Amino acid sequence: MNFLNEAANDYPGAISFASGRPAEEFFSLDSWLSAVPVYQAHAAKVSGESLPLAGRRLAQYGRTAGIVNALIAQQLRNDERIECDPQQIVVTAGCQEALALIVPALCRASGDVMLARNPTYIGITGVADFAGIEIRPVERHASESWEQALERTTARLRQEGKTPRGFYLTPEFDNPTGTVLSEAERRSIIAGCTAHRIVVLEDNPYGMFRFEGEPTAPMMTLDDSGCVIYLATYSKTLCPAVRVGAAVVPKQLFGSAAAAGRLRAELSERKSFVTVNTSQVTQALVGGVLLNEDASLARLVEAPRAHYRRNRDTLLSALETAFGERRGEVAWNRPEGGFFLSVTLPFDFGERETIECARDHGVIVMPMTFFSLDATRRREVRLAFSNAGVADIEAGVARLARYVDEKCCVAAP
Ligand SMILES: Cc1ncc(COP(=O)(O)O)c(C=O)c1O
Repeated sequence: MNFLNEAANDYPGAISFASGRPAEEFFSLDSWLSAVPVYQAHAAKVSGESLPLAGRRLAQYGRTAGIVNALIAQQLRNDERIECDPQQIVVTAGCQEALALIVPALCRASGDVMLARNPTYIGITGVADFAGIEIRPVERHASESWEQALERTTARLRQEGKTPRGFYLTPEFDNPTGTVLSEAERRSIIAGCTAHRIVVLEDNPYGMFRFEGEPTAPMMTLDDSGCVIYLATYSKTLCPAVRVGAAVVPKQLFGSAAAAGRLRAELSERKSFVTVNTSQVTQALVGGVLLNEDASLARLVEAPRAHYRRNRDTLLSALETAFGERRGEVAWNRPEGGFFLSVTLPFDFGERETIECARDHGVIVMPMTFFSLDATRRREVRLAFSNAGVADIEAGVARLARYVDEKCCVAAP
């Protein structure tokens, strides 16, 4: 990430497809701030306290596991069909804090490792690295189910004296690839993880940004064995500055209510030494918005979703214009939602190519190797289309195409 920030600073005129930031024109800070007193009034009513006292409580240190858990539970029921009790939820400072709390709580013994799809979100790799925990890819052969791949990966790790404890994934509009896991794949992962007592971390920041097609059931709703922890965030649906996310722990972890309770207690305890509690002011903001919106974000995401869809369409047609004649040599996927797509180029694209592209052609893209756990995916790049204008998307792809042409000419014998 530092490398990309430096590239952006060194070449300020470059059009960037690097950052998956949400589009700022939909940040409605004034109206969201005015939702704080709405939550304050709600809290006063629920507790039977006066309005000023409820306000003073908001400004004080607060409950470590959070104060808007019941509203989050309602929103997850309405928007994601996830049934959970408020007690199952630990409110966190964004999803990133949830990862930072959960990974070391799961991997406590030496030899405990995390699994992830490959490539994977940088945030989980960073958390594991900082905690000194190894993160390994679940590689799947073409003919294999996820269950079989998990079986093979687990057996290999056991031979090395290692035990996989968690499997991180973003099943809906993955960062970095933009892909979706089918319901059959989700069920296969749950079966494999249940068999080996591996906790699935289901991260879902982009699920509400589906442009077309049928939604796939969240893994938590398919899980009968209690192996899925669901991770929610308001960073993309509202804005990242709220730093409000949530971890939903199953009622029974692998069939044990006591184990689930212990994990929740441990996450709260760890959190009490990291952030003490998630800001009650921004929890009140999220809570007030949820009260105003009948505990659903469906209405609020309509406009940004249309914007992301337009950007995806612009990007797809720009890619077709630029590379249509060499399809096969250059390939890309067509995500049905989210913020990202991936492009495969006819040559390896790493740090040197990123700099050449930014310096000589004025466009910045993310090498997929940055997300790869084993240095594969060398020819792929991630394009984020969430926070760019139409003209920039078109010009950026045209610039990328000129770079690809130049590279291919140079490479030709
Ligand atoms: C897959 C994924 N998970 C988690 C996060 C972090 O979210 P938060 O802002 O809630 O910490 C991001 C942010 O880009 C993301 O792409």
